[in-house]
Amino acid sequence: MDEFITRPSPRIAFGSGMLAKLPEFVRDVGSVRPLLVTDKGIRSAGHLDRALSVLKEAGIEVSVFDDVQENPTNACIFACMRFAAEAGIDSFIGMGGGSSMDTAKGCNFLLTNGGEMKDYHGYGKADKPMLPFIAIPTTSGTGSECQSYALVSDDATHVKMACGDAKALASVALLDPELTASQPHRVAILTGLDAMAHAVETAVCRPRNPISKIHSMEAFRLMASSIESVIAGDAQLLDRSNMQMGAALAGLAIESSMLGAAHASANPLTAYYDVTHGHAVAIMLPHVIRFNRNNAAANEIYQSYEKWIPGNEQENVDMADWFESLIDAAGLSNLSALGAAESDVSKLAEAATQQWTGRFNPRTVGQEEFEELYQSALERIAESA
Ligand SMILES: [Fe+2]
Repeated sequence: MDEFITRPSPRIAFGSGMLAKLPEFVRDVGSVRPLLVTDKGIRSAGHLDRALSVLKEAGIEVSVFDDVQENPTNACIFACMRFAAEAGIDSFIGMGGGSSMDTAKGCNFLLTNGGEMKDYHGYGKADKPMLPFIAIPTTSGTGSECQSYALVSDDATHVKMACGDAKALASVALLDPELTASQPHRVAILTGLDAMAHAVETAVCRPRNPISKIHSMEAFRLMASSIESVIAGDAQLLDRSNMQMGAALAGLAIESSMLGAAHASANPLTAYYDVTHGHAVAIMLPHVIRFNRNNAAANEIYQSYEKWIPGNEQENVDMADWFESLIDAAGLSNLSALGAAESDVSKLAEAATQQWTGRFNPRTVGQEEFEELYQSALERIAESA
């Protein structure tokens, strides 16, 4: 067995209606004046009011920053930090999707350690203590509630920086599946497919280890049983619970291992064609699975996961084919419909080689291999057109 070191994980509080227990967790982290960081969508969904009312009932004075932007930049984080400094807060509650949690985490860096987000690009660059953080996800996707990284975009280049520190990790991940009922259908599909890709990529990546394997496997098992209902638009509370728990477990798997070539090849699609992260990852994943099958250990893991794919009791379902059927059922545009052409393959592959996550893929991926992956993604489109 290879050497490995896991990172700490938050307390996980799961349950329908768990939001009502928020005051207990605020007290547990020793806070009397939290800042709740969220966006306008969460306010209009009514989640913010519910959180505020349970805190008020418990006599906890809370400040609210509801100006979170999608894919927050350093400037967005700075605005939150100025607000937090003026409000004199002593903890953060990040409520919403990945952007709200990233803004809360990023703000924690700037408020407690100063400087700009780029100073924290990488891992472990905050010298001073940070404030406690409670994460409340309202989508089931990023797994940010279980990760010590804030993803923040550079103001000028919009390149995403991963800024991590053990102190930035949430003390509590509060998972209440009632909160994910409000997410738009398309968001539920794309974040769900992204979370499934997290489970699959962490399962086979080179730094996989006994702890990450447990998380990847259970994440896949839970989400495989519910993603079809999510796509069909008839997800029930159990499906939303499976997706929410699965996304959090996949987040824990990333925290103690890594991702792979589907994420490395997806990011250039987002950069060049403005494709949503989950969409880009979903359309690359089947090609990466087929490519990785040449690695015996990865192939064995994929096969062991296939037993959880619905319908596999009757006949053998291939994981890559299954993901393609999910993409079709979800009506996701293919690579050429997104604007990619054969002439783009070389530049996309070059950009993919710059992505950190690619180096953890079980099979080595360089320029030639990424070209092969994009090429096969383009060819699949020709078949399905
Ligand atoms: Fe992802």
